[in-house]
Amino acid sequence: MVEASQGLLFAVAPNTLRAHGREAEYTPLPSVWDGDDASLLDRLLDFYPRKRPRRILDATVNGGRFWRGSGRAVIGMDIEAKHRPTIVGDNTAMPFRDGSLDVVVYDPPHIPNQGRDILKDFNVRFGLILKSSKENGYTFTHTYPPFVREAYRILKPEGILLCKITDYIHDHQYQWAHVDFIQAARAVGFTACDCIVKTRKGPIIDPKWKIAHHSRRQHCYWLIFRKSDKCE
Ligand SMILES: C[S@@+](CC[C@H](N)C(=O)[O-])C[C@H]1O[C@@H](n2cnc3c(N)ncnc32)[C@H](O)[C@@H]1O
Repeated sequence: MVEASQGLLFAVAPNTLRAHGREAEYTPLPSVWDGDDASLLDRLLDFYPRKRPRRILDATVNGGRFWRGSGRAVIGMDIEAKHRPTIVGDNTAMPFRDGSLDVVVYDPPHIPNQGRDILKDFNVRFGLILKSSKENGYTFTHTYPPFVREAYRILKPEGILLCKITDYIHDHQYQWAHVDFIQAARAVGFTACDCIVKTRKGPIIDPKWKIAHHSRRQHCYWLIFRKSDKCE
């Protein structure tokens, strides 16, 4: 949409206008983010929903790092009671009515079957110690379809799914987790709307491999989906 302002023409994201009616406050969102997840997530929650989201679910809340310093009311779910989530439960069978949430946030365990790096607490924070079997190709791809089906069910029409995901190397092969996730989400009806590259200071390195023949991953993706046929 092109708007005239004091004789100047400028492009404005139509959904920003529709959602908030505050074109003067429009702030572009960069496609590469060097800050932390919490500040990015706060921006995403202002940017994509058509109106201010009231019912937000973090379906893999762990220690709740995404919400530190946030004033938003968030329902936190985790399968592990030790993280003391609002709801202990499995995000492939969630205790919510159809069409009852505005936003679902998902940050699944990223990298299966890794060696332990005792120098870092990445193993617990990022779910690195979880295993995947040979039948599942040693990946977590099989966990995406049951989750996205549930996320689609519990979101309101036009609701937003925000997913943090990282590709990785396993068994000397590049694992295209973000592609697998997009395919799974589209298959249940989501529209894939946007992708933000989030950088990290350094790569997560399996101490078993001193020499890598792939590039060291220093970024992950935040993927934005809408329960709708269109993004804007
Ligand atoms: C990568 S961590 C999330 C980290 C979190 N976003 C943070 O920054 O603190 C993934 C979490 O998903 C949880 N999880 C794994 N499978 C789950 C399932 N089926 N249902 C709910 N939670 C699950 C794990 O227990 C783990 O706490």
